[in-house]
Amino acid sequence: MRWDWLPLVAVACLAPFLQAQAHSTHLDDSIIEHRVSQLLSQMTLEEKIAQTVHFADSSTGPGSPHADYREQTAQGHVGSFENITGAAETNALQKLAIEKSRLHIPLVFALDVIHGYRTIFPVPLAMASTWDTALVEQASRVAAKEATREGIRWTFSPMVDIARDARWGRMVEGAGEDPYLGSAMAVAYVRGYQGARLSDSQSMLACAKHFVAYGAAEAGRDYNTVDISERSLRQIYLPPFHAAVESGAGSVMSAFNTLNGVPATANPFTLTHILRQEWKFPGAVISDYGSVREMIAHGVAVDGKTAARKAILAGLDVDLESNIYSRYLAELVRSGEVPEAAVEQAARRMLRVKFALGLFDHPYTPEPSTPVKPGLDSAHVELARTIAERSFVLLKNGDSEAGSPLPLAPGVRTVALIGPLADSASDMMGPWRARGDAADVVTLRTALTSRVQQAGGQVIYAKGTEILTAEDKGFAEAVAAAKRSDVVLMALGEDALWMSAEAASRAHLGLPGNQQQLLEAVTAAGKPVVLIVFSGRPLSLTWAAAHVAAILQAWFPGVQAGPALVRTLFGDVNPSGKLTVSMPRDVGQEPLHYDELNTGRPSDGIDLMRPPHNDKEKYHSRYVDEPNTPLFPFGYGLSYTKFTYSSLELSASQLSASGLNRNAQQPLHVSTTVRNAGSRAGDEIAELYVRLRGTSIALPVRQLEGFRKVALAPGESKRVEFTIGHDELAFWNIDMQDVVEPASVTVWIGPSSAEGKSADFVIAE
Ligand code: BGC
Repeated sequence: MRWDWLPLVAVACLAPFLQAQAHSTHLDDSIIEHRVSQLLSQMTLEEKIAQTVHFADSSTGPGSPHADYREQTAQGHVGSFENITGAAETNALQKLAIEKSRLHIPLVFALDVIHGYRTIFPVPLAMASTWDTALVEQASRVAAKEATREGIRWTFSPMVDIARDARWGRMVEGAGEDPYLGSAMAVAYVRGYQGARLSDSQSMLACAKHFVAYGAAEAGRDYNTVDISERSLRQIYLPPFHAAVESGAGSVMSAFNTLNGVPATANPFTLTHILRQEWKFPGAVISDYGSVREMIAHGVAVDGKTAARKAILAGLDVDLESNIYSRYLAELVRSGEVPEAAVEQAARRMLRVKFALGLFDHPYTPEPSTPVKPGLDSAHVELARTIAERSFVLLKNGDSEAGSPLPLAPGVRTVALIGPLADSASDMMGPWRARGDAADVVTLRTALTSRVQQAGGQVIYAKGTEILTAEDKGFAEAVAAAKRSDVVLMALGEDALWMSAEAASRAHLGLPGNQQQLLEAVTAAGKPVVLIVFSGRPLSLTWAAAHVAAILQAWFPGVQAGPALVRTLFGDVNPSGKLTVSMPRDVGQEPLHYDELNTGRPSDGIDLMRPPHNDKEKYHSRYVDEPNTPLFPFGYGLSYTKFTYSSLELSASQLSASGLNRNAQQPLHVSTTVRNAGSRAGDEIAELYVRLRGTSIALPVRQLEGFRKVALAPGESKRVEFTIGHDELAFWNIDMQDVVEPASVTVWIGPSSAEGKSADFVIAE
């Protein structure tokens, strides 16, 4: 892209997500800028540095780095805190900042509010599986309302890292493998957290993290090296950040990893060139936890002082718990190694954020005059249930011979419920549960027992095994339960805290511990088995896909796990979620993503299910011992009904590259009719994919460029139309310009990345 085109192109690219209603964050307000400048003119160097200091640990016990945090606050040495919650607690500290510090600058309190604060929603990977940005925005709004009541005005969310390697535990925190979907979700979170105005007392500052390419860690090992081309960076990893920034996200968190050798914490190319110069980001950049100090371990700084110098000069504004800015910045300015202007710039950005949040005018959180009602708000709980129901992905539902085991018959007599996740309230909340409480969770066991008993049936529960153990003494009871039942529900999967999110990389992607053996033993009992998988990543379920009757991917569904599952299993709701990550057959396929390049030796037309038997088949881009294809592809998910797509209609057969680049040409329209050909109402997510050929660089075999969710009654049809113009067709070309080139184009609309009706058109000069 030519950078003089950026403002136009950037807004155009994001147009589908930003829609009509402009959301103002007030970060670029001239009155705020004036107030910030006035304040800065009164500030000493030390007071400016204080705005770059963030304490995460505010314990007072032995070994705490900030045992004296109250005194530090009163003296005006700290700008922000995290992990302190509650109106009374935050107000008490705020009072010290406002009343005791010389310039009365308010603090801002942060927390990792990732998928709910008190009401815990499904994990972000599950929320993305709804493909429903309106629901995600609603959930984030609820999270903001609940958190701001307790003094939190800054959340370290959304995580917008694209993740294509299921070994990486943090895949659970994001929207999956695709930049288009990831950008749409990023905008939804920012809108929900920040609301229409950041100064609203119920709005929370969003923080797009982790900048950038953290998800591309080599071998899926957390914190590991990232080495990718600038094109991949711009085409895959940057778009969701750009979308977040364009939608007004007021802060960004830098990542732990090195990017092409340079730690993201002190990377001038990403922090200054891209974020500030190209994107004109006015907000604050905070480091990840302790990552300024980690520059020593990375080997780019021999001591804290060098780390501080490199980070501030690269454009990192706030030091999260390395305690290095507070220690060295003053010295660095006095010795002339860092210009005071760099510190002032960082302080300015943080103050801008505090003014935009309205903290100078309203620093305190209203404390309730009467005790707060215990428990959760019922509307929030209902939203949590709705989102969970729409996040489940039905991967398999019987076969043509045996029929479909789901939905369960309303009068089913005896249900065996087996597995370590069937009654684990804590695991249902997933990782990062803010101030969620396991006591609020309704498990599958509780909800199922109540439903089946009401209908006069019975549930036989047997845990069978623990999540991670070799001990199999519970197997016999589980097999016996299966034998006595009409249908078996198996609740298997990962430990939410140990096996998913940060520092939870896995080298194996099967069911953990001896759960696979339990599954095989129970399946051998001969009853129909419905496998419900709880996990923060796609597991490799190859055996299950071949042997059990049905599979429902449930992720970690949040407080309403049980009711949402039971309503889905009995068909009160029809599953509509679709995968936003490719499910591998085996860990050896990772990293795995649908938008791969074709290679010069594609495997088209070769039966990948059998070994190659001649050279013509062998010398292709393939494994000799596993098909290339995923077990279940990106975008895939079944329903209890059946949808059909009609042939595509294109409004034109040719576009002009130069016309599109000048924004002088009308886009093309492509449409299809989606029909519910079954006997139940259902929602279908129609996905638009594009492939370009004849371009200056090789482009993916398919790229998602749009999606729509359509609700259809039995027999009903709806027309679905997409627009294809500059944004859908531009890419970073051989000269690193983001442009449309002449090409042959294939476009698909369909139910997944591996299916759909297609049509072709041409982009002429
Ligand atoms: C994580 C961040 C999180 C931060 C909070 C870090 O360990 O990587 O995602 O926001 O902790 O302090």
